[in-house]
Amino acid sequence: MQGDHKHIRNFDEFVKGKDEQLQLLFRAVECARNGIVITDPSRTDNPIIYSNPAFSALTGYAPEQIIGRNCRFLQRDDREQAAVREIKEAVLKEIPITTVLRNYKRNGTLFWNELTISPVKNDSGQIVNFIGIQNDITSRIDSERRVQEFYSVISHELRTPLSSIHGALTAIEECSAGRINSQVMRLVRIGVDNSTRLMRLINDILDWKKLEAGKFKLNLREFDPADPVESVINELRIAAESKQVTLTSEIMPHHNVVADQDRIIQVLNNLAANAIKFSAPGSLVKIRVEAPSSDTIRFAVIDSGPGIASDQMEKLFVRFQQLDSSDTRKKGGSGLGLAISKAIVELHGGNIGVTSTLGDGSKFWFEIFS
Ligand SMILES: Cc1cc2nc3c(=O)[nH]c(=O)nc-3n(C[C@H](O)[C@H](O)[C@H](O)COP(=O)(O)O)c2cc1C
Repeated sequence: MQGDHKHIRNFDEFVKGKDEQLQLLFRAVECARNGIVITDPSRTDNPIIYSNPAFSALTGYAPEQIIGRNCRFLQRDDREQAAVREIKEAVLKEIPITTVLRNYKRNGTLFWNELTISPVKNDSGQIVNFIGIQNDITSRIDSERRVQEFYSVISHELRTPLSSIHGALTAIEECSAGRINSQVMRLVRIGVDNSTRLMRLINDILDWKKLEAGKFKLNLREFDPADPVESVINELRIAAESKQVTLTSEIMPHHNVVADQDRIIQVLNNLAANAIKFSAPGSLVKIRVEAPSSDTIRFAVIDSGPGIASDQMEKLFVRFQQLDSSDTRKKGGSGLGLAISKAIVELHGGNIGVTSTLGDGSKFWFEIFS
Protein backbone atom coordinates (compact mmCIF):
# COMPACT_ATOMS: atom_id res chain seq x y z
CA MET A 1 0.00 0.00 0.00
CA GLN A 2 2.82 2.40 0.85
CA GLY A 3 4.04 4.48 -2.09
CA ASP A 4 0.72 3.85 -3.79
CA HIS A 5 -1.68 6.71 -3.21
CA LYS A 6 -3.85 6.15 -6.25
CA HIS A 7 -6.73 5.08 -4.05
CA ILE A 8 -6.87 8.53 -2.41
CA ARG A 9 -8.94 10.82 -4.55
CA ASN A 10 -7.14 14.00 -5.76
CA PHE A 11 -4.19 13.14 -3.55
CA ASP A 12 -1.64 14.49 -6.07
CA GLU A 13 -3.47 17.81 -6.31
CA PHE A 14 -3.92 18.00 -2.59
CA VAL A 15 -0.32 17.22 -1.68
CA LYS A 16 2.07 18.86 -4.09
CA GLY A 17 5.54 18.11 -2.73
CA LYS A 18 7.15 15.58 -0.42
CA ASP A 19 7.47 18.10 2.41
CA GLU A 20 3.80 18.91 2.25
CA GLN A 21 2.98 15.23 2.18
CA LEU A 22 5.08 14.63 5.27
CA GLN A 23 3.51 17.60 7.01
CA LEU A 24 0.05 16.34 6.20
CA LEU A 25 0.71 12.88 7.59
CA PHE A 26 2.51 14.26 10.65
CA ARG A 27 -0.35 16.64 11.48
CA ALA A 28 -2.94 13.94 10.97
CA VAL A 29 -1.12 11.51 13.28
CA GLU A 30 -0.42 14.23 15.86
CA CYS A 31 -4.09 15.27 15.90
CA ALA A 32 -5.55 11.75 15.99
CA ARG A 33 -7.60 10.95 19.09
CA ASN A 34 -6.21 7.43 19.28
CA GLY A 35 -2.82 6.75 20.77
CA ILE A 36 -0.34 6.01 17.99
CA VAL A 37 3.18 4.60 18.33
CA ILE A 38 5.68 3.56 15.68
CA THR A 39 8.38 1.02 16.50
CA ASP A 40 11.61 0.00 14.80
CA PRO A 41 12.04 -3.79 14.60
CA SER A 42 15.57 -3.44 13.15
CA ARG A 43 16.73 -2.30 16.59
CA THR A 44 17.06 -4.50 19.66
CA ASP A 45 13.68 -5.23 21.31
CA ASN A 46 11.59 -3.32 18.75
CA PRO A 47 11.61 0.06 20.57
CA ILE A 48 9.21 2.98 20.14
CA ILE A 49 10.63 5.65 17.81
CA TYR A 50 7.53 7.87 17.74
CA SER A 51 4.48 8.42 19.95
CA ASN A 52 1.71 10.96 19.35
CA PRO A 53 0.17 13.36 21.91
CA ALA A 54 -2.94 11.17 22.33
CA PHE A 55 -0.69 8.32 23.48
CA SER A 56 0.75 10.63 26.17
CA ALA A 57 -2.75 11.82 27.12
CA LEU A 58 -3.92 8.23 27.42
CA THR A 59 -0.97 6.77 29.32
CA GLY A 60 0.46 9.78 31.18
CA TYR A 61 3.95 9.19 29.75
CA ALA A 62 5.76 12.00 27.91
CA PRO A 63 7.51 10.99 24.66
CA GLU A 64 10.98 11.35 26.20
CA GLN A 65 10.01 8.80 28.87
CA ILE A 66 9.12 6.14 26.32
CA ILE A 67 11.11 6.66 23.11
CA GLY A 68 13.65 3.85 22.93
CA ARG A 69 11.58 1.46 25.12
CA ASN A 70 9.47 -1.53 24.13
CA CYS A 71 5.72 -0.94 24.59
CA ARG A 72 5.44 -3.74 27.13
CA PHE A 73 6.12 -1.27 29.96
CA LEU A 74 2.35 -0.55 29.83
CA GLN A 75 1.71 -4.09 31.12
CA ARG A 76 3.72 -3.69 34.33
CA ASP A 77 3.63 -7.07 36.16
CA ASP A 78 0.37 -8.08 34.51
CA ARG A 79 1.82 -10.22 31.71
CA GLU A 80 -0.23 -13.40 32.10
CA GLN A 81 -2.67 -12.44 29.39
CA ALA A 82 -3.55 -14.46 26.29
CA ALA A 83 -3.50 -11.17 24.36
CA VAL A 84 0.20 -10.62 25.16
CA ARG A 85 1.07 -14.03 23.72
CA GLU A 86 -1.08 -13.35 20.64
CA ILE A 87 0.68 -10.01 20.09
CA LYS A 88 4.12 -11.61 20.46
CA GLU A 89 3.22 -14.21 17.85
CA ALA A 90 1.73 -11.64 15.43
CA VAL A 91 4.81 -9.42 15.71
CA LEU A 92 7.09 -12.43 15.13
CA LYS A 93 5.05 -13.51 12.11
CA GLU A 94 4.85 -9.88 10.96
CA ILE A 95 1.06 -9.97 10.61
CA PRO A 96 -1.52 -7.39 11.78
CA ILE A 97 -3.48 -7.97 14.98
CA THR A 98 -6.32 -6.33 16.87
CA THR A 99 -6.76 -7.39 20.47
CA VAL A 100 -7.76 -6.12 23.90
CA LEU A 101 -5.44 -6.19 26.91
CA ARG A 102 -5.02 -4.72 30.37
CA ASN A 103 -2.53 -1.88 30.52
CA TYR A 104 -1.53 0.59 33.24
CA LYS A 105 -1.14 4.36 33.05
CA ARG A 106 1.89 6.08 34.57
CA ASN A 107 -0.14 6.75 37.75
CA GLY A 108 -0.96 3.04 38.07
CA THR A 109 -4.58 3.22 36.87
CA LEU A 110 -5.69 0.19 34.89
CA PHE A 111 -7.16 0.76 31.43
CA TRP A 112 -8.43 -1.66 28.78
CA ASN A 113 -6.45 -1.11 25.63
CA GLU A 114 -7.99 -2.11 22.31
CA LEU A 115 -4.74 -2.32 20.39
CA THR A 116 -4.22 -2.70 16.66
CA ILE A 117 -0.72 -3.39 15.43
CA SER A 118 0.11 -3.35 11.72
CA PRO A 119 3.43 -3.96 9.99
CA VAL A 120 4.60 -1.03 7.85
CA LYS A 121 6.31 -1.99 4.56
CA ASN A 122 8.72 -0.01 2.42
CA ASP A 123 8.43 0.32 -1.37
CA SER A 124 10.11 -3.05 -1.88
CA GLY A 125 7.67 -4.76 0.47
CA GLN A 126 10.04 -5.21 3.42
CA ILE A 127 8.72 -4.63 6.91
CA VAL A 128 10.56 -1.65 8.29
CA ASN A 129 8.30 -0.56 11.16
CA PHE A 130 5.21 -1.44 13.14
CA ILE A 131 2.43 1.02 13.89
CA GLY A 132 0.34 0.51 17.02
CA ILE A 133 -3.00 2.25 17.54
CA GLN A 134 -4.35 2.35 21.10
CA ASN A 135 -8.00 2.84 21.92
CA ASP A 136 -9.08 3.15 25.57
CA ILE A 137 -12.24 1.02 25.90
CA THR A 138 -12.35 0.96 29.72
CA SER A 139 -15.78 2.56 29.94
CA ARG A 140 -17.20 0.09 27.41
CA ILE A 141 -15.75 -2.87 29.34
CA ASP A 142 -17.09 -1.43 32.62
CA SER A 143 -20.58 -1.04 31.25
CA GLU A 144 -20.48 -4.55 29.77
CA ARG A 145 -19.50 -5.82 33.21
CA ARG A 146 -22.37 -3.92 34.84
CA VAL A 147 -24.79 -5.43 32.31
CA GLN A 148 -23.34 -8.85 33.10
CA GLU A 149 -23.85 -8.26 36.83
CA PHE A 150 -27.41 -7.16 36.16
CA TYR A 151 -28.18 -10.44 34.35
CA SER A 152 -26.53 -12.39 37.11
CA VAL A 153 -28.74 -10.62 39.70
CA ILE A 154 -31.81 -11.39 37.57
CA SER A 155 -30.79 -15.00 37.30
CA HIS A 156 -29.80 -15.67 40.91
CA GLU A 157 -31.38 -13.05 43.15
CA LEU A 158 -34.66 -12.81 41.27
CA ARG A 159 -35.36 -16.05 39.44
CA THR A 160 -34.31 -18.43 42.22
CA PRO A 161 -36.50 -16.96 45.02
CA LEU A 162 -39.33 -16.32 42.58
CA SER A 163 -39.36 -19.94 41.50
CA SER A 164 -39.66 -21.08 45.12
CA ILE A 165 -42.50 -18.57 45.72
CA HIS A 166 -44.16 -19.94 42.59
CA GLY A 167 -43.60 -23.53 43.72
CA ALA A 168 -45.04 -22.83 47.17
CA LEU A 169 -48.12 -21.07 45.77
CA THR A 170 -48.71 -23.86 43.25
CA ALA A 171 -48.50 -26.43 46.06
CA ILE A 172 -51.13 -24.48 48.05
CA GLU A 173 -53.30 -24.20 44.92
CA GLU A 174 -53.11 -27.97 44.45
CA CYS A 175 -54.09 -28.38 48.12
CA SER A 176 -50.86 -30.27 48.91
CA ALA A 177 -50.86 -28.52 52.28
CA GLY A 178 -54.52 -29.26 52.93
CA ARG A 179 -57.80 -27.82 51.74
CA ILE A 180 -58.24 -24.06 51.69
CA ASN A 181 -61.38 -22.00 51.46
CA SER A 182 -62.48 -20.42 48.20
CA GLN A 183 -61.57 -16.91 49.30
CA VAL A 184 -57.96 -17.93 50.00
CA MET A 185 -57.91 -19.97 46.77
CA ARG A 186 -58.85 -16.85 44.79
CA LEU A 187 -55.90 -14.97 46.29
CA VAL A 188 -53.53 -17.90 45.77
CA ARG A 189 -54.56 -18.11 42.08
CA ILE A 190 -53.72 -14.43 41.65
CA GLY A 191 -50.30 -15.19 43.15
CA VAL A 192 -49.77 -18.20 40.87
CA ASP A 193 -50.82 -16.28 37.74
CA ASN A 194 -48.60 -13.32 38.46
CA SER A 195 -45.58 -15.36 39.51
CA THR A 196 -45.97 -17.39 36.29
CA ARG A 197 -45.96 -14.18 34.25
CA LEU A 198 -42.93 -12.89 36.08
CA MET A 199 -41.07 -16.20 35.62
CA ARG A 200 -41.86 -16.11 31.90
CA LEU A 201 -40.57 -12.56 31.64
CA ILE A 202 -37.35 -13.41 33.48
CA ASN A 203 -36.79 -16.54 31.40
CA ASP A 204 -37.41 -14.54 28.22
CA ILE A 205 -34.87 -11.90 29.25
CA LEU A 206 -32.25 -14.54 30.10
CA ASP A 207 -32.95 -16.48 26.88
CA TRP A 208 -32.63 -13.32 24.84
CA LYS A 209 -29.32 -12.53 26.48
CA LYS A 210 -28.04 -16.03 25.65
CA LEU A 211 -29.26 -15.75 22.06
CA GLU A 212 -27.59 -12.38 21.61
CA ALA A 213 -24.32 -13.67 23.04
CA GLY A 214 -24.46 -16.71 20.72
CA LYS A 215 -24.51 -18.97 23.78
CA PHE A 216 -27.86 -20.55 23.08
CA LYS A 217 -27.18 -24.23 22.33
CA LEU A 218 -29.63 -26.54 20.59
CA ASN A 219 -30.06 -30.11 21.74
CA LEU A 220 -30.90 -31.77 18.43
CA ARG A 221 -32.56 -35.19 18.17
CA GLU A 222 -35.15 -36.91 16.03
CA PHE A 223 -38.79 -36.85 17.15
CA ASP A 224 -42.37 -36.93 15.92
CA PRO A 225 -43.48 -33.29 15.41
CA ALA A 226 -46.94 -34.21 16.69
CA ASP A 227 -45.40 -34.68 20.18
CA PRO A 228 -44.57 -31.01 20.87
CA VAL A 229 -48.03 -30.04 19.60
CA GLU A 230 -49.61 -32.40 22.09
CA SER A 231 -47.52 -31.16 25.00
CA VAL A 232 -48.30 -27.50 24.19
CA ILE A 233 -52.00 -28.30 24.08
CA ASN A 234 -51.70 -29.91 27.53
CA GLU A 235 -49.65 -27.00 28.91
CA LEU A 236 -52.10 -24.38 27.67
CA ARG A 237 -55.35 -26.22 28.34
CA ILE A 238 -56.14 -24.31 31.54
CA ALA A 239 -55.24 -20.93 30.02
CA ALA A 240 -57.50 -21.69 27.03
CA GLU A 241 -60.36 -22.92 29.22
CA SER A 242 -60.23 -19.87 31.42
CA LYS A 243 -60.63 -17.69 28.31
CA GLN A 244 -63.28 -20.06 26.93
CA VAL A 245 -61.15 -20.65 23.87
CA THR A 246 -61.04 -24.10 22.27
CA LEU A 247 -57.48 -25.22 21.64
CA THR A 248 -57.16 -28.08 19.15
CA SER A 249 -54.61 -29.75 16.95
CA GLU A 250 -54.69 -30.75 13.31
CA ILE A 251 -52.09 -33.39 12.57
CA MET A 252 -51.65 -33.81 8.81
CA PRO A 253 -49.47 -36.53 7.23
CA HIS A 254 -45.90 -35.85 8.33
CA HIS A 255 -42.51 -37.39 9.01
CA ASN A 256 -40.04 -37.16 11.87
CA VAL A 257 -37.91 -34.08 12.28
CA VAL A 258 -34.47 -33.44 13.77
CA ALA A 259 -34.64 -30.41 16.06
CA ASP A 260 -34.49 -29.32 19.71
CA GLN A 261 -37.86 -30.53 20.96
CA ASP A 262 -37.94 -28.36 24.08
CA ARG A 263 -37.21 -25.27 22.01
CA ILE A 264 -39.88 -26.19 19.45
CA ILE A 265 -42.29 -26.52 22.39
CA GLN A 266 -41.15 -23.07 23.58
CA VAL A 267 -41.88 -21.51 20.16
CA LEU A 268 -45.23 -23.27 19.77
CA ASN A 269 -46.17 -22.38 23.34
CA ASN A 270 -45.37 -18.76 22.69
CA LEU A 271 -47.36 -18.61 19.45
CA ALA A 272 -50.33 -20.49 20.89
CA ALA A 273 -50.37 -18.50 24.16
CA ASN A 274 -50.42 -15.29 22.10
CA ALA A 275 -53.24 -16.62 19.95
CA ILE A 276 -55.28 -17.51 23.05
CA LYS A 277 -54.56 -14.11 24.57
CA PHE A 278 -55.97 -12.30 21.54
CA SER A 279 -58.95 -14.61 20.90
CA ALA A 280 -62.52 -13.83 21.87
CA PRO A 281 -64.44 -16.23 24.16
CA GLY A 282 -66.04 -19.02 22.17
CA SER A 283 -63.43 -18.96 19.40
CA LEU A 284 -60.99 -21.59 18.20
CA VAL A 285 -57.19 -21.77 18.18
CA LYS A 286 -55.68 -24.55 16.11
CA ILE A 287 -52.12 -25.88 16.08
CA ARG A 288 -51.38 -27.62 12.82
CA VAL A 289 -48.46 -29.75 11.80
CA GLU A 290 -47.83 -30.81 8.20
CA ALA A 291 -45.06 -31.81 5.82
CA PRO A 292 -45.15 -29.61 2.69
CA SER A 293 -42.21 -31.62 1.31
CA SER A 294 -40.12 -34.65 2.23
CA ASP A 295 -37.56 -32.50 4.04
CA THR A 296 -39.82 -29.83 5.55
CA ILE A 297 -42.04 -29.78 8.63
CA ARG A 298 -44.36 -26.84 8.99
CA PHE A 299 -46.06 -25.85 12.22
CA ALA A 300 -48.86 -23.29 12.21
CA VAL A 301 -50.95 -21.64 14.92
CA ILE A 302 -54.21 -20.39 13.50
CA ASP A 303 -56.64 -18.12 15.32
CA SER A 304 -59.72 -16.11 14.50
CA GLY A 305 -58.68 -13.15 16.65
CA PRO A 306 -58.61 -9.47 15.60
CA GLY A 307 -55.82 -9.96 13.02
CA ILE A 308 -52.83 -7.71 12.42
CA ALA A 309 -52.64 -4.72 10.08
CA SER A 310 -50.05 -5.17 7.33
CA ASP A 311 -48.04 -2.09 8.43
CA GLN A 312 -47.68 -3.59 11.93
CA MET A 313 -46.47 -6.99 10.78
CA GLU A 314 -42.79 -6.14 10.40
CA LYS A 315 -42.70 -4.94 14.01
CA LEU A 316 -43.90 -8.31 15.24
CA PHE A 317 -40.63 -10.20 15.43
CA VAL A 318 -38.56 -7.27 16.69
CA ARG A 319 -37.64 -7.37 20.37
CA PHE A 320 -39.46 -5.11 22.83
CA GLN A 321 -41.89 -4.07 20.08
CA GLN A 322 -45.45 -4.57 21.07
CA LEU A 323 -47.97 -3.57 18.52
CA ASP A 324 -49.19 -0.07 18.74
CA SER A 325 -52.52 -0.44 20.44
CA SER A 326 -53.68 0.02 23.97
CA ASP A 327 -55.52 -3.27 23.65
CA THR A 328 -52.24 -5.07 22.87
CA ARG A 329 -50.50 -3.50 25.86
CA LYS A 330 -53.30 -4.54 28.19
CA LYS A 331 -52.60 -8.16 27.28
CA GLY A 332 -49.12 -7.98 28.82
CA GLY A 333 -46.07 -9.95 27.73
CA SER A 334 -42.36 -9.19 27.65
CA GLY A 335 -42.24 -8.04 24.04
CA LEU A 336 -39.53 -10.66 23.61
CA GLY A 337 -41.52 -13.82 22.90
CA LEU A 338 -41.74 -13.49 19.11
CA ALA A 339 -38.17 -12.21 18.79
CA ILE A 340 -36.99 -15.25 20.77
CA SER A 341 -39.18 -17.55 18.66
CA LYS A 342 -37.69 -16.12 15.47
CA ALA A 343 -34.15 -16.51 16.80
CA ILE A 344 -34.80 -20.13 17.85
CA VAL A 345 -36.33 -21.04 14.49
CA GLU A 346 -33.46 -19.36 12.63
CA LEU A 347 -30.93 -21.15 14.83
CA HIS A 348 -32.50 -24.33 13.44
CA GLY A 349 -31.96 -22.96 9.92
CA GLY A 350 -35.74 -22.52 9.53
CA ASN A 351 -38.16 -19.71 8.67
CA ILE A 352 -40.92 -18.07 10.64
CA GLY A 353 -43.71 -15.81 9.42
CA VAL A 354 -47.27 -14.66 9.72
CA THR A 355 -50.22 -14.17 7.44
CA SER A 356 -53.09 -12.15 8.75
CA THR A 357 -56.07 -10.09 7.71
CA LEU A 358 -57.41 -7.38 9.96
CA GLY A 359 -60.61 -8.64 11.56
CA ASP A 360 -60.10 -12.13 10.19
CA GLY A 361 -57.53 -13.88 12.40
CA SER A 362 -53.85 -14.66 12.05
CA LYS A 363 -51.75 -17.63 11.10
CA PHE A 364 -48.27 -17.78 12.62
CA TRP A 365 -46.15 -20.49 11.05
CA PHE A 366 -42.62 -21.79 11.05
CA GLU A 367 -40.79 -24.37 9.02
CA ILE A 368 -37.89 -26.63 9.98
CA PHE A 369 -35.89 -28.48 7.34
CA SER A 370 -34.17 -31.79 7.80
C1 LIG B 1 3.68 -1.11 17.32
C2 LIG B 1 3.45 -1.81 18.62
C3 LIG B 1 2.63 -1.25 19.56
C4 LIG B 1 2.40 -1.89 20.77
N1 LIG B 1 1.59 -1.31 21.72
C5 LIG B 1 1.42 -1.92 22.90
C6 LIG B 1 0.59 -1.33 23.89
O1 LIG B 1 0.01 -0.27 23.71
N2 LIG B 1 0.43 -1.98 25.07
C7 LIG B 1 1.04 -3.18 25.32
O2 LIG B 1 0.86 -3.72 26.40
N3 LIG B 1 1.82 -3.76 24.39
C8 LIG B 1 2.00 -3.16 23.20
N4 LIG B 1 2.80 -3.76 22.25
C9 LIG B 1 3.28 -5.14 22.48
C10 LIG B 1 4.63 -5.23 23.16
O3 LIG B 1 5.54 -4.35 22.63
C11 LIG B 1 5.15 -6.68 22.95
O4 LIG B 1 5.20 -6.98 21.59
C12 LIG B 1 4.27 -7.68 23.68
O5 LIG B 1 4.37 -7.43 25.06
C13 LIG B 1 4.67 -9.16 23.42
O6 LIG B 1 6.03 -9.36 23.51
P1 LIG B 1 6.81 -9.72 24.87
O7 LIG B 1 6.23 -11.01 25.39
O8 LIG B 1 8.23 -9.85 24.41
O9 LIG B 1 6.62 -8.60 25.83
C14 LIG B 1 3.03 -3.13 21.04
C15 LIG B 1 3.86 -3.70 20.06
C16 LIG B 1 4.06 -3.06 18.87
C17 LIG B 1 4.96 -3.68 17.83
